Amino acid sequence: MRIDLLSRNPQVTPEQMLEGFQPTARFGAVNFDNYYPNPEYPSQAQTRDTLREFTANPPQPVKRLFRRPKPVEGVGFYLDGGFGVGKTHLLAAAWHAFEGRKVFLSYQELLYTIGMLGMHKAIEAFHGYELLCIDEFELDDPGNTHMTSTFLGQLMPMGTHVITTSNTQPEHLGQGRFNAEDFKRQIQAIAERFTVLSIDGPDYRQRGAGVGKPLKKADLTALEQSAGNFVRLTASELNLHLTRVHPARFSRMLEGIDTVLLDDLVCMTDQNIALRFVHFVDKVYDLNLRFAASGEALDHLFPATYRYGAYAKKYSRCLSRLTEMLSISGKKLEQLESVG
Ligand SMILES: Nc1ncnc2c1ncn2[C@@H]1O[C@H](COP(=O)(O)OP(=O)(O)OP(=O)(O)O)[C@@H](O)[C@H]1O
Ligand SMILES: [Mg+2]
Repeated sequence: MRIDLLSRNPQVTPEQMLEGFQPTARFGAVNFDNYYPNPEYPSQAQTRDTLREFTANPPQPVKRLFRRPKPVEGVGFYLDGGFGVGKTHLLAAAWHAFEGRKVFLSYQELLYTIGMLGMHKAIEAFHGYELLCIDEFELDDPGNTHMTSTFLGQLMPMGTHVITTSNTQPEHLGQGRFNAEDFKRQIQAIAERFTVLSIDGPDYRQRGAGVGKPLKKADLTALEQSAGNFVRLTASELNLHLTRVHPARFSRMLEGIDTVLLDDLVCMTDQNIALRFVHFVDKVYDLNLRFAASGEALDHLFPATYRYGAYAKKYSRCLSRLTEMLSISGKKLEQLESVG
C-alpha cells in the first residue's frame, strides 16, 4: 500500500520519546556472540571483550549501613572508529547484555530531548538510568558542546554509565565545524570522562555487498509490488519536507513504513538540506527499511567540497549505507526479473 509521507509531520511528547529509546530494528537482535571480530584487527576483539566484561560486572553503588548506597562515578567508554566497523553493533550488544535500567539513543535524539525538557528536567529524567548508550556522538557547535558538558558533568558523577560511538577521536571533536580552540577546556572535560576503545578495520558493509547504484524509474515501479507499505516521492519533494520535520522525529514519521522509494536523486547543493538528507538515510538504515532510488550516481549526490569538508565522515557514512541498501534492492530486482 502506498503511503503519503508528505502528510506526516508527527509531534512527539518527551515521555513518548523516552519510552522509544532502545535499539532500532537493525540492531534489535545483535549481541557479542554474533559480532565476528576480524583477526587482522585485534582492536575489534579487545573492544568486544572490554564491553562484555563491563556489562557483566558494572561498578555498583557502595552499600552502607543504615544509609543510602553511595553512588560511584559512572564509567565512560568511547567507541572510536571509521564507518561500518561495527561500533553500533557493539553498542547495541552492550545495551542488550546490561541488566538494569538502560536507554539507547542517538546523540541527535539526546540533544533534542534535552532541548525539549530543559537541562534540569532532562538530568532528572535520565538520572533514573544506570546505562546510557549514545550512538554517533559529535560536537557540531558551541551550544551542543556546552549542553553536553553540563549534562554529562551532572549525570555521570551520580552513577550513570555512558557508552558512546563516534567517527571522531574525542580530542578532535568540533574541529572544522566551529572554533573548537575556544572551547578546548569543555571539549577536554568531555573527553576525560571516557576511556577510548578504538575499533580498526574496513567497512563491514562492503563485504560482498557489490556496487549499489541508483535504479531506473521502471525498476522502482517493479519493486512496488513487493514493497509492503511504501512511500514513493522525488528526492526534491522529500528534501523540502525534511526541512519541516526535526530529525529526532524521523523515526516516528517512518512508523509502519516498510520501503522508501525515491525518484530523481540529484546533487544537493545546500549543506543544510544535504545534512537533513543524511539523517534521513541514517534512520531508514537503522530502522532496516528497504530502500531504492533512481537518478544520479551516488558520487554526484554531494558536492566534492562537502565530501572533503567538516562533515566529510557523515557524507562518507551515508554513501556507504546507501550503497549497501541499493545493492540489496538491485539483487531483489534481479530475483523478481528471473521469476517473472
Ligand atoms: N564484526 C562484525 N560481525 C558481525 N556483524 C558486523 C560486524 N561488524 C559490523 N557488522 C554488521 O555490519 C553492519 C554495519 O555495522 P555498524 O552499523 O555497527 O557499523 P558502525 O561502525 O556503527 O558504522 P557507522 O559509522 O556507519 O555508524 C551492521 O549490520 C552490523 O551488524
Ligand atoms: Mg553506527
